[in-house]
Amino acid sequence: MKWQTGSRSNPAPCREKDKGRFEIVTRDGQARLGKLHTAHGIVETPCLLPVINPNIRTIEPREMWDKYGIQALITNSYVIWKHQKLKDVALSDGVHSLIDYPGVIMTDSGTFQSYVYGDVEVGVEEIVEFQKDIGVDIATMLDIFTRPDMTFSQVKKAVVETIERGKPSIEMAGDVILNGPIQGGLFPELRSLSASQMSKLDFGVHPIGGIVPIMEQQKYKDLAKIMLACKSNLSPNRPVHMFGCGHPMLFPMLIAMGADLFDSAAYVLFARDGRLLTPWGTERLSDIEEWPIIMPVVSHVSPSDVRSMKKDERTVLLSKYNLEITLQEMSRCRQAIRDGTIWRLAERRSHQHPALREAFLWLVTNPATSSMDPLILDEISASKETGNELGKWEENWNWLVNSQFTPRNGSESWGGIDTHHRPHVEMARRRLFSRWKSRNSGDVIIFHGNNPPWRDKIGDLIERICSLDYEIFIQTPLGLVPWGLEDLNPWAHIEGPDWLWKRKPDYAWIQRELERLGVTDRKIVTIDISDTEDLHQRVFELLDLEELERTPDIKKRAQIVDKLCVLCNVELDDAIELCKDSTFVMSRTGRIRNVIDSEGIHLFSPRLAEGGMSLTVDGARKLHALRNCDTPDGFSLTEYSQHPGKGPAWVVVDNDAEPFIQEGRNVMHGFVLGCDSWIRPGETVLVVNSSGKLLAIGRSQATSREMASFTKGIAVKVREGCP
Ligand code: GUN
Repeated sequence: MKWQTGSRSNPAPCREKDKGRFEIVTRDGQARLGKLHTAHGIVETPCLLPVINPNIRTIEPREMWDKYGIQALITNSYVIWKHQKLKDVALSDGVHSLIDYPGVIMTDSGTFQSYVYGDVEVGVEEIVEFQKDIGVDIATMLDIFTRPDMTFSQVKKAVVETIERGKPSIEMAGDVILNGPIQGGLFPELRSLSASQMSKLDFGVHPIGGIVPIMEQQKYKDLAKIMLACKSNLSPNRPVHMFGCGHPMLFPMLIAMGADLFDSAAYVLFARDGRLLTPWGTERLSDIEEWPIIMPVVSHVSPSDVRSMKKDERTVLLSKYNLEITLQEMSRCRQAIRDGTIWRLAERRSHQHPALREAFLWLVTNPATSSMDPLILDEISASKETGNELGKWEENWNWLVNSQFTPRNGSESWGGIDTHHRPHVEMARRRLFSRWKSRNSGDVIIFHGNNPPWRDKIGDLIERICSLDYEIFIQTPLGLVPWGLEDLNPWAHIEGPDWLWKRKPDYAWIQRELERLGVTDRKIVTIDISDTEDLHQRVFELLDLEELERTPDIKKRAQIVDKLCVLCNVELDDAIELCKDSTFVMSRTGRIRNVIDSEGIHLFSPRLAEGGMSLTVDGARKLHALRNCDTPDGFSLTEYSQHPGKGPAWVVVDNDAEPFIQEGRNVMHGFVLGCDSWIRPGETVLVVNSSGKLLAIGRSQATSREMASFTKGIAVKVREGCP
């Protein structure tokens, strides 16, 4: 999206059958780049809908379209309905003409006015009908605002009444996309109830309501809790809108938790008050000599020039400044989703405001059960809540972790102890713990003290001892990793200071790690490899071994076995059998490029970039033949099952799609009949027909719940069809 001078052409309407549909184009965990299809164009999300007051237009909507490329804005249908002049024009010429804006117009319903002024005179169906009559693209039902000071029973009453109003509102809306707000005050169980019940009704978008006072009081921890409770219970194929949230500081965290749309009058309200929005908080024009960030609208003026302007002129300029800053942070978030770094951005932003930091720490520690570093426990103990709260949040946190894609490309940049709690790091560790299996019964050897690539330092040594009965691990800043996975992201790609690798082994921590890896009651030998001089001799002496020949193929086979188990979810015995007598094509740098079976057939190719593994069609056929459970029949709505050993997840497609998929075309949502419950975005899947015949190998773009609900967009990116 670019800012421009001159006019921009009007948007093209979406295809009639796509109206109201939402599709995901790219994702990073629960953060998503999406497209919402409407009669006034496609809205690319996440995005901000600036609030337009039809009575006072500080920045002209036309300028928002032409100059800033804003695809959607929000105005208030109740304000239009109340003012006869506006109402007459809106009814005769339509809302787009009234405010002179060609893009998508969302309207609110008067609920917020009832919160501010006590009541509104308009009826539930009446306001929806009015929004339909004036031609809005996305209307809002008259929900009941739940304030944070309300009691549980008051909030419950409001939630139930909002749900009851949903059905008549939807009927009245007809084919207009309708917002179904989620209420529930500060009560997570009521937020969950509201989200799951409202999801059952045919709304197009779900705003999270009742959060304005929470944000005004900077109770961002409560906001994070609300977001988790709502999002994990909402139908995933509907965009989620944050009502009244327009401070750029909050975007990364909320987007990382799945927010798609934002709206706010903050850009104008703060401007009127002489305040500037920044991604790290708010600054006063009266306090600054230099702009915190130089944006196009202030490139030719200094803060003191602006201070001496007349109030109206100053407000317009500062509104544009605030809007530009807000749009810039939104662009940054969208790019971070493409780059797979949205959580890291949220993590960085969390350091910029104490209330945001509190929210972030709560998020990454309270719901999570697996604090792994004793250091972390100290830092976050103050932000922890009572023990019995934990279970409640664990499931919501699982929802976030289980949508993460791993292994990733690129480095894992060290961000202090927060690094341990990045959801994709947690996902990688969970997968390791649930799928990796020990296959030796002897002593445990832990190499520590040096950074990757470890194969350069201990590769030769391992080739000599791997035929013996040792279980060998490497100590990394993100936990122990079996040496067979020594090139796997994130463990092998941490970018951080040297001291990270020099930490001395902590035995209690090692025991905990080994327990989670299913390795118990073993003698543990730790070996410092910070100095590789005489390492060979030192290790042989320490282990009391005679000199041994190198057995490189045993090492290579064991590496592939580990990868088959952890990355392809293959049963240990099957993986060993598949690799029996295999041979290898090596890269010039001594890494396995291709795995060839005993009959000379190329089955697998480890990926050098992130340590993943690609299947050939023959390899996929082998894994397909190993399947020891039924072809999935429908979808699992509980997303957290692991099912280790059951192989790559299967995706069952409609017969109509079969020939296209065998030719290598992607699987589109709408053609998926079922999938395994252990499917994860980014993982290799086998695409099959309803009789279980293999059609293609691909990468899933969705979880099982998402597969069940989306009707538009790509479900599986097919890598190769299997004719
Ligand atoms: N604007 C800000 N908060 C809300 C809300 O809870 N409901 C509606 N309809 N509009 C809002």
